[in-house]
Amino acid sequence: MDFQLNEEQEMLRKMVRDFALNDVEPTAAERDEEERFDRGIFDKMAELGLTGIPWPEAYGGIGADFVSYVIAVEELSRVCASTGVTLSAHLSLASWPIYKYGNEEQKKTFLYRLATGEALGAYALSEPGSGSDAGSMKTVAQKDGDAYILNGNKVWTTNGGVADIYIVFALTDPDAGNKGISAFIVEKGMDGFTTGKKEKKLGIRSSPTTELIFDNCRVPKENLLGEEGQGFKIAMSTLDGGRNGIAAQAVGIAQGALDAASDYAKEREQFGKPIAANQGISFKLADMATDIEASRLLTYQAAWLESEGKSYGKASAMSKLFAGDAAMRTTTEAVQVFGGYGYTKDYPVERYMRDAKITQIYEGTNEIQRLVIGRMLTK
Ligand code: CAA
Ligand code: FAD
Repeated sequence: MDFQLNEEQEMLRKMVRDFALNDVEPTAAERDEEERFDRGIFDKMAELGLTGIPWPEAYGGIGADFVSYVIAVEELSRVCASTGVTLSAHLSLASWPIYKYGNEEQKKTFLYRLATGEALGAYALSEPGSGSDAGSMKTVAQKDGDAYILNGNKVWTTNGGVADIYIVFALTDPDAGNKGISAFIVEKGMDGFTTGKKEKKLGIRSSPTTELIFDNCRVPKENLLGEEGQGFKIAMSTLDGGRNGIAAQAVGIAQGALDAASDYAKEREQFGKPIAANQGISFKLADMATDIEASRLLTYQAAWLESEGKSYGKASAMSKLFAGDAAMRTTTEAVQVFGGYGYTKDYPVERYMRDAKITQIYEGTNEIQRLVIGRMLTK
């Protein structure tokens, strides 16, 4: 076994860390407060090649591996979890299914635009009545000549409104249950496609989350992704990798909180000595660091499995489950280390704590991760 990152992965980490500190962190608190998405940050990620990390150069990517991808999401999330999920949803939820299931034409057009960062991606599975039970969706896609007519509403779409390319799931055969679901590539500006309500959220506030409305939206048949009826498998297999992106986001949030808490514990004095000199505080830091290291190992392992072409669905569900819970524990303790100051917006730890919560909820709640892992263990 080799636990060492290779030279390329180390270089990528350094590049993303520098970018995160110079271009992302300075406005993170302000963007959170103002619930403001900054397309300029995504454009800079594109210039650095981050928007196409794992895809071949022929499709506009930089041909790196999935470990490099999770390192990038981790380093971004270490300073701004919203920026981390912008990239994670773009790469693993919008671009991956085109890379995996798209035909050559779709890869050359849509994947290329996503990989180069000319276009931003999003993934629309959830509906008002269909969250954990993703197969019970109601949105329909009726064949009409050389097109499909989409009708229905999606909710909670990350990058909603600001994205250019959406992977949308809809029923082409409503009587066939999850075997009647198909996947479509929908572009911003198509007739009958609009963005609805933007959610006001607890955390990841500079990542827009919106409703999507399809009102007789005409999607050319060339935009069907994969085969008719293959949509649920496309959705589920996409989430296999996406969940590991969220694990990486959780690792980054937790690491950012630990960085802040350990610095503060060394500086803040009470009873004539730094609070870090109390075992009650240093044990917290030790538990946080151990949680983070375990989360990171699970996350890198799942990414490595994907890069090696091995099965990684169970590993990803485990990494998301563990890292999401660990991020919640870590960020809550980080606020505790800061005492009253941690409860204010003068320090970033309250933001980390608010941001951590989502990692236990989206891309399948942590109850659903247990269901996925349990089914794999017992099938
Ligand atoms: N890969 C390929 N196929 C899969 C699969 C996978 N990982 N998981 C299931 N399938 C297939 C099954 O093999 C089965 O096919 P067959 O009938 O041919 O065998 C079919 O899909 C149905 O599977 P299940 O019976 O397991 O389906 P289910 O209805 O019981 O649901 C579930 C399973 C795991 C609970 C699923 O509904 C699920 O993952 N729910 C959570 C939804 C979710 O994660 N949403 C995330 C939205 S995106 C998001 O949140 C983005 C963001 O934050 C940024
Ligand atoms: P529900 O499914 O109603 O669950 C409610 C509670 O019941 C949860 O605690 C759940 O764990 C529990 N529960 C449900 N079923 C079971 C069961 N069988 N066993 C045990 N417990 C169960 N979706 C997208 O498609 N694209 C996106 O880009 C996207 N981004 C998101 C961004 C944000 C900020 C948020 C909040 C959500 C996003 N989602 C997105 C949706 C997200 O994936 C869902 O919120 C999530 O899957 C849970 O669905 P739900 O909210 O309907 O909760």
